[in-house]
Amino acid sequence: MLGYFQASAARTKSEGAATVSAELNPIKEVQAAIAAFEREFERFARFTAGEVSAKDADAEQRALAELRTKHLGKKSAIAAAKKLIGRVASDQRASFGQLVQQTEARISESIGQVEQALKAQIDAAKIERESIDITIPGHRPQPGHLHPITLMCQRIEDIFVSLGYAVEDDREIETDFYNFDALNIPEGHPARDPQDTLYTTEGFALRSQTSTVQIHAMQRRGAPVRMIAPGRVFRRDTPDPTHNPMFYQVEGLCVDRGITMAHLKGTLAEFVHRLFGPETKTRFRPSYFPFTEPSAEVDYSCFSCGGSGCRICKHSGWIELGGSGMVHPNVLRAANVDTSEFTGFAFGLGIDRTCARIYQLDDIRLLFENDVRFLEQFR
Ligand code: FA5
Repeated sequence: MLGYFQASAARTKSEGAATVSAELNPIKEVQAAIAAFEREFERFARFTAGEVSAKDADAEQRALAELRTKHLGKKSAIAAAKKLIGRVASDQRASFGQLVQQTEARISESIGQVEQALKAQIDAAKIERESIDITIPGHRPQPGHLHPITLMCQRIEDIFVSLGYAVEDDREIETDFYNFDALNIPEGHPARDPQDTLYTTEGFALRSQTSTVQIHAMQRRGAPVRMIAPGRVFRRDTPDPTHNPMFYQVEGLCVDRGITMAHLKGTLAEFVHRLFGPETKTRFRPSYFPFTEPSAEVDYSCFSCGGSGCRICKHSGWIELGGSGMVHPNVLRAANVDTSEFTGFAFGLGIDRTCARIYQLDDIRLLFENDVRFLEQFR
């Protein structure tokens, strides 16, 4: 096909050389344009036979677009030849005009054919890439499920909500006021020791117990108030089977007129009955917390052996539930609660250890190792 250009240009020449001026020979200009095009087009011509990889087709398509601009664009030799038509002698003008037009049409057609071939190649590669084999077995998405600690929190929340308690959620980074002062832990008290607490910046610490929520809840709700607050707490404790530097507690607070230790004992007894069964007993041992007076550690009779002693209760017959006591008047005052009118009780239970007992885990650290083989058992 390319040979046609030369033949048709040669024919026009033999019919009589068109001239514009002594220096400028329009036929020669067209012949030079054809020769230049043919030289550059040669490597593209083979693409019509599909001789280009899908990988190269994109780049070749861009190169071909540049070739089109160069040989047919406003600044091309053909465009310059068109401008000469009017200047050719009138008896040769028609045949020269025809030559220019035919040359332009042939160049355009040649480029067009390669363009189509490249586009077909690109389209075929795209279809290949994007096609879906619907016969390949699919991947079944693995739906997530609740973490055992979350399941435990939900069970605890259900019990207290049914007893008329609200559920509070609060911050994990606390100021000295909520972490210490308001909980009757003045400056210099051993509970402020950096050994016990994880400080962030000056004046802030990661809460080491959920008791901080007692103050927030009383400030928010005033008295009377009944709430529980499950959440994460942090301590500089060395990890072992029963300790983690990050663990979960649930705080409980009940402030009202005439609240006594009997209410505290009755509430926690009811809680363990509902969580472990009606035969479960509770036991209160005298203890000390700066924010309660009097204070007590709470134990419940082992749900596995019923109190006779087994591996789960370390043969004592009892399992520790957490700390408790009557809210210290200084704590009520720090939260602007009138101590002449209101009294209250509070407790703080360790969720991780309770969870470990219920699911018979040897080590609470299993709960946070994110081992799917372990977690899948709670699906
Ligand atoms: C307290 O944290 C008090 N705030 C509880 C309290 C609240 C007393 C309200 C009075 C009134 P204690 O430090 O004993 O108390 O912690 C309570 C429970 O948290 C423990 O019984 C235990 O189950 C759990 N616990 C403590 N340290 C860790 C730890 N490092 N890892 C896992 N669980 C822990």
